[in-house]
Amino acid sequence: MTYDAVVIGAGAAGLFCAITAGRRGKRVLVVEHNVQPGRKILISGGGRCNFTNLNTTAENFISENPHFAKSALAGYTPHDFVELVRKHRIEFYEKKLGQIFCRNSARQIVEMLLLECERAKVTILTNCPVASVGRSGSGFVIDTGLGRYEAKKLVIAAGGLSFPKVGATDLGYRVARQFGLKIVPTRPALVPLAFAGGSKFGKLAGVSIDATASVGRISFRENILFTHQGLSGPAILQISNYWKPETPVTIDLLPGRDALSLLRENAPSRQTLANFLAGHLPKSAAEVLSAKWNKPLAQLNPKEQAEVAESLNSWCVAFDRTEGYQKAEVTAGGISTAELSSQTLESKTITGLFFIGEVVDVTGWLGGYNFQWAWSSGFACGRAI
Ligand code: FDA
Repeated sequence: MTYDAVVIGAGAAGLFCAITAGRRGKRVLVVEHNVQPGRKILISGGGRCNFTNLNTTAENFISENPHFAKSALAGYTPHDFVELVRKHRIEFYEKKLGQIFCRNSARQIVEMLLLECERAKVTILTNCPVASVGRSGSGFVIDTGLGRYEAKKLVIAAGGLSFPKVGATDLGYRVARQFGLKIVPTRPALVPLAFAGGSKFGKLAGVSIDATASVGRISFRENILFTHQGLSGPAILQISNYWKPETPVTIDLLPGRDALSLLRENAPSRQTLANFLAGHLPKSAAEVLSAKWNKPLAQLNPKEQAEVAESLNSWCVAFDRTEGYQKAEVTAGGISTAELSSQTLESKTITGLFFIGEVVDVTGWLGGYNFQWAWSSGFACGRAI
């Protein structure tokens, strides 16, 4: 069977690309090995899908080429997607910092995409694993569990390696390698980090603190969350995109407050350090973090005051690993942007071969940016195929 384009992967990017091309009258087939399209969309945003971020710019993405995403993001903006959602009468709200979520359910986004696919006459085959792809004349041949398909254009929208339990595979990278395209080494991103040498803070698992996490000059102020192995929470997930082994993360547990001044101002107090800190941090955290200096504030000498202050404002945390692709929301690295046109996402060397979405070396921050990249890159490609 011959199509104008075969899209591998019925996730956010693949479906949006197919809709865009289908609306232009292209015959598009989407093949998906899961029994259901859009499984990651369904579990995203705690079931409410943070489907875009109104403040999206290329600066919210990590890539070897920090300018690469600009063209696609400008061609299809967060406002364009919000307009589509509005047209489908899906209720949404801004949670914070431009993050737009469904008010009711992520399922509505999947239903919207499937309805748009139907209107654009896109064929979707689920339960259809891809066995191999190859060239056929000037086009491509795709062998699947449900048969052989031919197409002039082939779009790889197979996502990254994160969350294998909802169907992630390495197919996109395998196809890139098969055609000789460069891949930026992949790594788990938006992922909890584990303390080097195991956790000394098991008692604090579940405790969350408003903090600033920094690597070099990159900082994020949001909550951190103690886990059994290390730290998670939005500030840690964000900084994990920038973390590399042997790079310490600095955490300010009292952002905007100078701990040394606070200690000095309260130096005459007979209150214990733990009780004092409980006025600024959750009680359990105050107890554990002050255990080394378990005495009244009045008995802390200047050296100890400085040590305590440093542990609060610049806690230098050594992590030795992430919690891996099982827990990572996205995969950083991927198909090198040097191989692709930023306007169309087509390979510069293999005419008719496109890569979109998470499989490309463009990784967004937490907060709706990754879906916006999926819509924007899918749109740019859908216009070109
Ligand atoms: P995606 O992974 O969505 O789709 C790829 C598709 O290809 C899948 O359906 C897969 O089954 C299919 N496939 C893979 N291999 C195949 C093969 N061999 N044959 C056939 N099909 C194959 N982002 C955001 O912006 N806001 C949010 O709220 C969240 N929340 C969130 C929560 C959780 C738990 C996770 C894991 C991730 C998020 N994300 C997110 C990230 C977001 O889900 C992700 O960036 C996009 O889904 C990427 O879209 P893609 O279409 O590129 O890949």
